Amino acid sequence: MIDKKPFKKINAMSKMRFLKQSFFVIILLMLASACTYDFVEVSEPDPIDPTDTISFKTVVAPIFSDGNKCTACHSTGATPPDLTPDRAYGAIVPALVNTNDPEASSIYWFAHPQSETHEWKKYTQSEANIILGWIEQGAQNN
Ligand code: HEC
Repeated sequence: MIDKKPFKKINAMSKMRFLKQSFFVIILLMLASACTYDFVEVSEPDPIDPTDTISFKTVVAPIFSDGNKCTACHSTGATPPDLTPDRAYGAIVPALVNTNDPEASSIYWFAHPQSETHEWKKYTQSEANIILGWIEQGAQNN
């Protein structure tokens, strides 16, 4: 008679090892996913304080010219509107703003991140909020 018990024992032992290893892997996966969730940051656009006056010169115009974001194409003698710092105001007001219906201003919606126009370059959501806030405050040359 052949005694099959030793084989059964080995089988049972490798099953145990397999279970232990799977358990370990599951714990590791749970730890890893816990870590990812811990570090997810929701990027909310900066809220604009309605009592803060938004300056065209120091806040709005740099959105167009910093890193040549818009002035790469919209510079003097190139594609209108001319968005270079000294000429941007004259190019935008009154042609591209509507202070009665700020959201209808083309300087706001044309390059809005959710618009279907102007694929070349879009504002970030917080830049769009700044532009809208500035128009709501009367699109001043301040
Ligand atoms: C890669 C080149 C390029 C860049 C960069 C660019 N634009 Fe434009 N933009 C154009 C072209 C070309 C047109 C004209 C064609 C059209 O109307 O779609 C235009 C049109 C516009 C218009 C419409 C003007 C009108 O008279 O109706 C606005 C407003 C505008 N751009 C704003 C911006 C803003 C704001 C930025 C920066 C966030 C920007 N553009 C960056 C190429 C560019």
